Amino acid sequence: MYREKFDLGGRVAVVTGGAQGIGNAIATALAEHGAKVVIADMDVNTGAAAAAALGGEFAALNVRDRAMVRTVAEDISARHGHVDILVNNAGIARNSPSVDTPAEEWLEVIDVNLNGVWWCSQAFGRGMVARGKGAIVNIGSMSGIVANKPQAQTHYNASKAAVHMLTKSLAAEWAPHGVRVNAIAPGYIGTELTKRGLANAEWKKQWLEMTPFGRVGDPSDVAALALFLASDAAAYMSGSVVSVDGGYTSW
Ligand SMILES: NC(=O)c1ccc[n+]([C@@H]2O[C@H](COP(=O)([O-])OP(=O)(O)OC[C@H]3O[C@@H](n4cnc5c(N)ncnc54)[C@H](O)[C@@H]3O)[C@@H](O)[C@H]2O)c1
Repeated sequence: MYREKFDLGGRVAVVTGGAQGIGNAIATALAEHGAKVVIADMDVNTGAAAAAALGGEFAALNVRDRAMVRTVAEDISARHGHVDILVNNAGIARNSPSVDTPAEEWLEVIDVNLNGVWWCSQAFGRGMVARGKGAIVNIGSMSGIVANKPQAQTHYNASKAAVHMLTKSLAAEWAPHGVRVNAIAPGYIGTELTKRGLANAEWKKQWLEMTPFGRVGDPSDVAALALFLASDAAAYMSGSVVSVDGGYTSW
């Protein structure tokens, strides 16, 4: 019974930003459990190679471009008949003291991390609502719950808090339509996104001291939770923001 709940055979899953890092681990986990996975990423070379390695498909997508999001969603839905799972994972991080943050940097972070999640949720959610079935997993962050130390990143933190609230709002609105929407709030995970921070001795020291586990997490730690939330094992869960952060937000 419990094996069946994690079986994604026959399901179509779209993972934005699935070319590398956390998104790639999630795409791998979903594919291993039988889903037909479409990696949707703006990095065409890495994304196409990653999709081929999974036996999945690749779609070139910039989540900031709402017309492109709509076209890609319609195209994937038309080719497969439906989309069962959407993982809104594409995201970027920038660091700058708030008084000096350039307007373009603020707009870029909000555009990718928040607007991108919105465009994709709306474009793919439309078909899910019409069909009465679907699961959306948004990648938020512990930065949407607590402010990071020592690096300044108000735009990033605000964008992730907004993703958490977007998650709850859609969860409530779409529950009667059979569509579940949950979010994951990862702590520090070893990927390209954290590479620069981990190369900074002072940042790394503070990051690890503030993490009860004393180490960064692996993308697979996030992927295991995404697999659960995307599957029927989480059938009674919606509107949840679940932390995978080595205990960071517990003290
Ligand atoms: N790594 C961490 O510590 C950490 C912690 C909390 C949350 N997150 C979140 O997890 C998600 C994945 O992060 P990661 O660490 O794997 O980063 P990463 O930089 O390794 O990968 C991000 C992927 O997103 C793609 N991408 C970026 N902008 C895009 C756009 N506009 N359209 C389409 N694709 C785009 C990139 O090409 C890349 O493949 C992000 O939302 C990030 O904010 C990461």
